[in-house]
Amino acid sequence: MKKLRSSDWFGRSGKDGFIYRAWMKNQGIPSDSFRGKPVIGICNTWSELTPCNAHFRELAESVRRGVLEAGGFPVEFPVMSLGETLMKPTAMLFRNLASMDVEESIRANPLDGVILLCGCDKTTPSLVMGACSVNLPTIVVSGGPMLTGKYRGRDIGTSDLWRFSEDARQGLMTEEELNLAESGMCRSRGHCAVMGTASSMAAMVEALGITLPGNAAIPAADANRKVLAQLSGRRIVDLVREGVKLSDVLTRRAFENAIRVNAAIGGSTNFAIHLMAIAGRMGVELELEDFDRYSRDVPLVANLQPSGKYFMEDLYYAGGLPAVMHSIEASLHTDVLTVNGRTMGENITGCESLNGTVISTVEDPFNPISGMVVLRGNLCADGAVLKPSAATPALMQHTGRAVVFEDIEDYRLKIDDPELDVDERSVLVLKNVGPKGYPGMPEVGNMGIPKKLLERGVTDMVRISDGRMSGTGFGTVVLHVSPEAAAGGTLGLVADGDLIRLDVAGRRLELLVGADELERRRGLLVPAEDRFSRGYAKLYVEHVEQAHLGADFDFLKGGSGSEVSRDSH
Ligand code: FES
Ligand code: MG
Repeated sequence: MKKLRSSDWFGRSGKDGFIYRAWMKNQGIPSDSFRGKPVIGICNTWSELTPCNAHFRELAESVRRGVLEAGGFPVEFPVMSLGETLMKPTAMLFRNLASMDVEESIRANPLDGVILLCGCDKTTPSLVMGACSVNLPTIVVSGGPMLTGKYRGRDIGTSDLWRFSEDARQGLMTEEELNLAESGMCRSRGHCAVMGTASSMAAMVEALGITLPGNAAIPAADANRKVLAQLSGRRIVDLVREGVKLSDVLTRRAFENAIRVNAAIGGSTNFAIHLMAIAGRMGVELELEDFDRYSRDVPLVANLQPSGKYFMEDLYYAGGLPAVMHSIEASLHTDVLTVNGRTMGENITGCESLNGTVISTVEDPFNPISGMVVLRGNLCADGAVLKPSAATPALMQHTGRAVVFEDIEDYRLKIDDPELDVDERSVLVLKNVGPKGYPGMPEVGNMGIPKKLLERGVTDMVRISDGRMSGTGFGTVVLHVSPEAAAGGTLGLVADGDLIRLDVAGRRLELLVGADELERRRGLLVPAEDRFSRGYAKLYVEHVEQAHLGADFDFLKGGSGSEVSRDSH
């Protein structure tokens, strides 16, 4: 084995070694516990403000047991934890901040390898992004999904939240019924139980090969989740001994696999933004069109909400992600290395689907339409995305009149106004919900349908914005319009009544207004004043890149390795 990185701390003589060791010993640890052994950081996003990750101290104990069994020394440390449900204005605003915490915490400390404990949506990309910029041996352990929710004998999950709230707006659900649903939806520890962003991220890290097989689907409440954590603790020690770094696993081909798997499971549109950001940290070339290109030949084989019917618990019983990957094996690079030391192909050998209703074959897929469509046109010169499996087929070729909302407040004010000039053929346009505009690109892109149309039975409309949508959301929703309105995008020039043409088959999104008229309107734009004079929001707005590049900070691209040449005293 190569010299351990941690020996630059604990293996030193004189004053420096004294300082590095002496304070460790105040935890009641004899020096042979950590000296000369692989020191494994357990990077923990435990927080009671991140309910999806609130069981992580227990999970860390399982990792710790595994590390000790394999002869390593575990040290648990906290990093900023991003809770999707409680944080305002959106957890996404803080993804890059958390990634900086992770990167610097790993590099500055005597660690030889890292276990990343990830769960709720942003906790996965922020940790993986930070870890990539240091590039130590690393394994991700996800916290696992919640058990399937129950409401009056019905299975429910986060995607039903959107339906319930539309029902309540129309008076179809009482306050009492809403309360009952609220108490039945999140029945156990874990993250959202549908194929939302958290599940898509758990699947992403498994598809990238940086988890042990089976990571994505084991419910948080299942004893096997702890077993996976313990086995990951054992394995990371070997990974350090073998000197396998993140960059050995996260090759371009691993990213292509992840895109294909995301298509097969009907994964979140947020996947595109997070995977781009991770690729940027790893120095792997990836462009937005790759998400369209590599998912075209992959059908939707997993029948999971929001694109289908079932829940993560059902996916687990049907064989989990290994069975999904087995199903689409012909489209995958099966010779890529994964962190258990075996190839992807070896990992999925014999992992047939155990339930054809939940995980189908490629020949007879649950839905031939999958993946993400990348649109271009004068309304989105740098791209926009749409998830066809969550959209209405009849709206995929559509021309309609724009109904414009200048920002989220304008939308809230007008949407249920009986006087709003809107019908089912209209195209709802929401501006200023992009990375810079909001700031932080919130999940408001699947804006609710006007009440008067809901009452007439309209369930879907074309909606366009520079924001994101929850991975649990659905509808004919064009997202991530780039450049965003606040960065000078054409989206900022759309006016009420303009015709917009969406052509999914042709991958086009056009504002049918002449270039001269658009130039005239641009001349009339009043530049927005700088809203932030200090603090993180100021840094964010100044440095965040556009959605099609992953919305990372311009100065965080790439990595700085793990070397630190200077000492603290
Ligand atoms: Fe945490 Fe959905 S809110 S995963
Ligand atoms: Mg979310």
